[in-house]
Amino acid sequence: MKPKSVKIGNVCTETNVFLAPLAGYTDFAFRSICIGYGAGLTFTEMVSANALLHDSKATKELLYTAENEKIRCVQLFGSDPQIMKEALQQEALSSFDVVDVNMGCPVPKIYNNGAGSALLNDLPKAEKILSAMCSTGRNVTVKIRLGTERGKSVAVAFAKMAEGAGVKMLTVHGRYRPDYYAGEVDFDEIARVKNSVKIPVIANGGIFSRADAETMMNKTGADGVMIARGALSKPYLFSEILEQEYRFDLYETVKRQLELLKTRFDDRRIAVNFRKVMPQYLKGVPCDKEWKCAFTKVNSAEEILALFKSR
Ligand SMILES: Cc1cc2nc3c(=O)[nH]c(=O)nc-3n(C[C@H](O)[C@H](O)[C@H](O)COP(=O)(O)O)c2cc1C
Repeated sequence: MKPKSVKIGNVCTETNVFLAPLAGYTDFAFRSICIGYGAGLTFTEMVSANALLHDSKATKELLYTAENEKIRCVQLFGSDPQIMKEALQQEALSSFDVVDVNMGCPVPKIYNNGAGSALLNDLPKAEKILSAMCSTGRNVTVKIRLGTERGKSVAVAFAKMAEGAGVKMLTVHGRYRPDYYAGEVDFDEIARVKNSVKIPVIANGGIFSRADAETMMNKTGADGVMIARGALSKPYLFSEILEQEYRFDLYETVKRQLELLKTRFDDRRIAVNFRKVMPQYLKGVPCDKEWKCAFTKVNSAEEILALFKSR
């Protein structure tokens, strides 16, 4: 697909292929790599509004953005309108261009606290949160899924409510809460959402190739697509979808990612994180099982690079 700009309030993206927030994966270093391949928008991992107000150091660390993140976008989660608004007004968020609200997370820890996808069951509360946040004049966007019960979509009603509240863009993950991240994506329902509002609608779910992205765009008429797991093994997927020339070398990519991470984190933390990052990168890469497995036991960044060289 040819790149198109998406207008989010007073900011415009360069492309309409976005990187989704993925807690535990899409740190500033990975986002920086995806931007290099044409990701038009990137989001921080989800950040707790409550924790922000309590000045949590670990939470603040999630707010660090990469140098090439020209549009800075933070994703917040929470369930209290006042807390969400106050979090948005924190100094730590003042430099973000876009504030996205997570209203799609299916995980019990979030859902049982009335946040994430629980808000799909309480549109009046979701409206209070979004209106309170939009009243600050900031660019507020929201990411949802279709609903919490399979077949009972609230997405169209939600979209109209969100647009009325002043939200500037809506991302729809075309699955239900019980689906988590598997199963069919309902293209028709995303299309109905797209046709029900004037704000940009971004379609998400199950995009692992250029063909998947084209199917999603053709079947939904969305303004853009958002890639999550597909990017973890192929950060170059953005270029592939956008039909742009690219070069990809796994060793060089990992080396660059480690260099970036080293500017912020200690070796041990980087290595522990890479124990789950590497299996993603190696998905579909034909290689020795033992060699692949060794990456899940690394203790330092040097060890990761040495393992590559040992192949
Ligand atoms: C490990 C993992 C972490 C995720 N973290 C977030 C998150 O922090 N915020 C969010 O809105 N969605 C999160 N998601 C959902 C993804 O952004 C995306 O909506 C979902 O994976 C569907 O897209 P895909 O089929 O391209 O993977 C997460 C998904 C996974 C698998």
